[in-house]
Amino acid sequence: MGGLAEVRYIIASRPGLAGDVAPTAAAGHARHRLTELHARMILVTGGAGFIGSNFVLDWLAGTDEPVVNLDKLTYAGNVRNLDGLAGDARHRFVRGDIADQPLLESLLADHAVRAIVHFAAESHVDRSIHGPGDFVDTNIVGTFRLLEAARAYWSALPQASRDAFRFLHVSTDEVFGTLAAGDPPFSETNQYLPNSPYAASKAASDHLVRGYHHTYGLPVLTTNCSNNYGPWQFPEKLIPLIIANALAGKPLPIYGDGRQIRDWLYVGDHCSAIRHVLESGRAGEVYCVGGSSEKANIDVVQTLCGILDAERPRADGTPYASLITYVKDRPGHDRRYAIDARKITAELGWQPAETFETGMRRTVRWYLDHQDWVADVTSGGYRDWIAKHYGG
Ligand SMILES: NC(=O)c1ccc[n+]([C@@H]2O[C@H](COP(=O)([O-])OP(=O)(O)OC[C@H]3O[C@@H](n4cnc5c(N)ncnc54)[C@H](O)[C@@H]3O)[C@@H](O)[C@H]2O)c1
Repeated sequence: MGGLAEVRYIIASRPGLAGDVAPTAAAGHARHRLTELHARMILVTGGAGFIGSNFVLDWLAGTDEPVVNLDKLTYAGNVRNLDGLAGDARHRFVRGDIADQPLLESLLADHAVRAIVHFAAESHVDRSIHGPGDFVDTNIVGTFRLLEAARAYWSALPQASRDAFRFLHVSTDEVFGTLAAGDPPFSETNQYLPNSPYAASKAASDHLVRGYHHTYGLPVLTTNCSNNYGPWQFPEKLIPLIIANALAGKPLPIYGDGRQIRDWLYVGDHCSAIRHVLESGRAGEVYCVGGSSEKANIDVVQTLCGILDAERPRADGTPYASLITYVKDRPGHDRRYAIDARKITAELGWQPAETFETGMRRTVRWYLDHQDWVADVTSGGYRDWIAKHYGG
């Protein structure tokens, strides 16, 4: 860590930015020395999104290793999730696209990055049905550009740094398709059978990552995780949407019969799984991550309603579940996902800390305590803030 002391940061003077720092010329001179000393700094892509911002916050709560956070700030990215890091020299936020290869190359070199944790993606299945193009551009082409930049950077590192370098690709269980009621859960050896444009684009990115390991030797790691829930999730996703609608007295929409089954994992547990894989995972390996917590969508909504009834009873005393409304099912809606997470547990000792019940309660309380955040995101106030600070 001695090399890090060589780096001086200046904190950008724009107020309110989440720890936006720029390296000084001194840092530029220190760059090569830092590389030789196996600098410890990671590049996170998509670190203003739901899981990415949880990851960055957890990371910097647990270590002093700095983070360069590259995010395009699409509708799903919210740099204000990182307000708690304002003025923190360990965090540098950069607004940019993972498909911008020159930008990637300069970020990698300027910061002597020792690992990339790749979250950036278009991630909403419903949006992929209405507009698959963005999913191809970011999830496939963007990941390809990121791999190319990583390969160029990694190839030029000194041997010890090459050996230590990692490219961790964050993927989803949706690449495996759907399960029938009695099927065993997905594991690392499952066939890829993606059923939506989102899942297909993530599957393609997984294949590219695998190909870069087998062809070029790039030290990659891939995680395929089940559905996450927790703080900072964009309010169009099931759990924050249900909480927001319930509090507003609006219908709680349930697709089809509501019997679609998902495995649910608290986002903090996904972040800890990624840290385990990054530090101890074997290069070239895939790790399935899940909460061993299969629930039908209708049961998730009933659970949320029950917690809200206890935490924030309605003025007229009627249960929140009376707002449940069944709507037309999503086309191609997968019936069941489930994850066998025995490999990551056996090899790396990872286990989720939260149960479904404790994680859901924490999540509901977080949204109740952060109504201003939800209102800001849903009202467009956040987009106005971005336009003011970033010009668009
Ligand atoms: N949410 C889940 O339940 C879940 C489960 C398993 C895996 N994953 C995977 O985890 C990752 C993160 O998911 P999430 O739910 O946090 O998604 P999200 O949509 O909340 O966040 C994605 C982030 O990526 C950024 N981004 C999008 N396109 C970009 C581009 N071209 N360049 C740079 N940044 C860009 C967005 O601005 C946003 O901040 C994704 O790769 C997703 O496939 C998600």
